[in-house]
Amino acid sequence: MKGMVFTEFLEMVEDSFGWEVAEDIVEESDLPSGGAYTAVGTYSHTEMVSMVVKLSEKTGVAIPDLLKAYGKHLFGRFNSLYGSFFENVSGTFDFLSSIDQYIHVEVRKLYPEAELPKFDYEYPNEHTLVMIYSSKRPFADFAEGLLMGCVEHFGEKITIDREDLNAADGTDAKFTLVRETEAVAAD
Ligand code: HEM
Repeated sequence: MKGMVFTEFLEMVEDSFGWEVAEDIVEESDLPSGGAYTAVGTYSHTEMVSMVVKLSEKTGVAIPDLLKAYGKHLFGRFNSLYGSFFENVSGTFDFLSSIDQYIHVEVRKLYPEAELPKFDYEYPNEHTLVMIYSSKRPFADFAEGLLMGCVEHFGEKITIDREDLNAADGTDAKFTLVRETEAVAAD
């Protein structure tokens, strides 16, 4: 995974739990890289898993909750760092529909070594978007957090439902996003 994913993670840990906790998890997670992440470097996703496990031990916050919080936080950073992807976008569904075939494709051009998931899309009706996440990495919780951050960003009333697929090990999940429609007054 790209270094920025790690530096942003440690910044979130520092903001939420203090710099001592951030320093401790780096020291105690037995990281092959030693934990000196730079934004331009590339590191194994297993280092992220180790740090999240350690952070959960230290804080008592469950691992899925930490990954979701991190996804939500990172979405806000994407908005600042990659503003061009947000131009000419009409809303949540429009933006999310562009991840697999546009945004992550551009990300791959910028960083050929990036490890990206795959999304398949279904559009059962105009209020519903289904995104099927599949990855070699167990980051469905992280994906859910990114989706939560995205919904919050566009400020639409959208619920996110998740169904784990395969062995429910976090590598495959189906997300169903339903946009609340304006209530029509019944006479
Ligand atoms: C402006 C928007 C976005 C940008 C610039 C972006 C970019 C990236 C980058 C740089 C990575 C790391 C690749 C690596 O470390 O090797 C990544 C991974 C990932 N992205 Fe996106 N992304 C965006 C939006 C989203 C959204 C909205 C989702 C929603 C689910 C998403 C799902 C993921 C997931 C789950 C990963 C982790 C890798 C994996 O699960 O296999 N991304 N993305």
